[in-house]
Amino acid sequence: MKNGLLEARDVRMVFGGVIALDGASISVQPGRITGLIGRNGSGKSTLFNCLTGFLAPTTGSITLDGVEISGLPPHRVVRAGIARTFQTPRIDFQTTAREAVLCGLFPQLRHGFIASLLGLPGALAEERDLHGKVDAVIARMRMEAWSASQASKLSMGRVRTVEVARAIAADARFLLLDEPAAGIGKDELKVLAEEIRGLADRGIGVLLVEHNFSLIRMLCEEVTVLDAGAVIFRGTPEGARRDERVMQLYLGAAAAGEAA
Ligand SMILES: Nc1ncnc2c1ncn2[C@@H]1O[C@H](COP(=O)(O)OP(=O)(O)O)[C@@H](O)[C@H]1O
Ligand SMILES: [Mg+2]
Repeated sequence: MKNGLLEARDVRMVFGGVIALDGASISVQPGRITGLIGRNGSGKSTLFNCLTGFLAPTTGSITLDGVEISGLPPHRVVRAGIARTFQTPRIDFQTTAREAVLCGLFPQLRHGFIASLLGLPGALAEERDLHGKVDAVIARMRMEAWSASQASKLSMGRVRTVEVARAIAADARFLLLDEPAAGIGKDELKVLAEEIRGLADRGIGVLLVEHNFSLIRMLCEEVTVLDAGAVIFRGTPEGARRDERVMQLYLGAAAAGEAA
């Protein structure tokens, strides 16, 4: 058994006639930030969805600590310690930032949501614990100044911080980020990069799916490049920059007006 790894091996995913993944593999290690890049439509989000239980691969395996987890529903995957963000943030914009972080803790509730609503004693004690935990996460992510603001009033960078905070609150061992830099400005990008680095420093294994190669260079020791659902490169970001095939894809994408 391989301890402490989240791995996809030889994953193939077919949607009708479309082969989204064609034997892709990747391994995410605790305390490291692994990058996953590739052009639009290369299969990044599909691989991500397979790793988080949102899709069951057509063939191939997804393992956590060497145990097969493909086919588990997403909430079971979250309980196993794998959290994710979405390319388009999915938070309830009517709530405050703090309430959105609190939602991340619900899968861990032992007494259940109903017991909590009814105010049963065990549930009340548990709820106090939860609030303490949320406060700690808010302090750690430096969200105090705006944690009471409604999510709809926040910048995209802050919305993404809320998503990461929610994942931390859920005690994730692995955190998978789908294009966290999308739609955020340069200054916020720097803050987000520091946050992601901090997660890895605390032992969380991060998979960073990104379009933005400079963020990958800033954060990752290893990057996997997907093209047409298959891995075409695995190595350091510097190695990827020197790889002719990778550069051709990226230069081609840049020439076509895609922000590679
Ligand atoms: N639910 C789906 N149904 C059909 N085709 C899909 C579905 N999801 C993704 N695809 C297709 O699979 C390929 C890979 O998509 P995706 O994983 O979203 O790529 P990326 O995230 O790298 O842009 C694309 O051709 C896309 O159109
Ligand atoms: Mg995608």
